[in-house]
Amino acid sequence: MTRARSPLALPASERDDDRIAEFVLDTPVMRGFVAEVQAAIAGVTSPQDACAAIEPRFAELLADSRWLPDEYQAAAPASGMGGGIGQWLLYRGDDGSLSLFSLVVPPGSETPIHDHLAWGLVGLYRGTQDEEIYAQRGGALELVEQRSLEPGDFYALIPPRDDIHRVRTTSAETSVSIHLLTNDTGCVWRHAWDTASGQARPFRSGYVNVACDDD
Ligand SMILES: [Fe+2]
Repeated sequence: MTRARSPLALPASERDDDRIAEFVLDTPVMRGFVAEVQAAIAGVTSPQDACAAIEPRFAELLADSRWLPDEYQAAAPASGMGGGIGQWLLYRGDDGSLSLFSLVVPPGSETPIHDHLAWGLVGLYRGTQDEEIYAQRGGALELVEQRSLEPGDFYALIPPRDDIHRVRTTSAETSVSIHLLTNDTGCVWRHAWDTASGQARPFRSGYVNVACDDD
């Protein structure tokens, strides 16, 4: 069977076609959401239009307190992000062109400054966060925006704009954000930056609950 390719899909050289689509959280809500996302992506020709098409359904997901089991809202003491931050895979496409995951950040913890190398939507499901957005200018990292997020808030992340950020939980409870990104975010090698020196280093966060192919 030949699968229809989105016009926004990665070129063949950047995909791993041996991978099998995974509904790690296999529920009717997840199946319905992913099907709507895939239809939206297939029907548009720019990341901006795709994000706009997905936003209403993504907002519904953030507003629904029932679909995400507690195990995917739990901190992970030994995670690749540090600080007990858990990155839980919920769904991953078979060609590495889409992933849905929860990011769980305990009170007082913050992610490293990092990039994503893919476009998509990120929204807050529980707790509150502060987000700092950085840009690379003249070889240095520059803080360009700060914003506070409450449950239901979300934003489109379209590289290179807004691709580098750090999030910090500001609530007394753990924060949980939902990420829908057009790569296998936990398994691709991306970048993290040292706050003091501004130096970038290779960074792969992994997922708490699913291995990467070459682990
Ligand atoms: Fe991020």
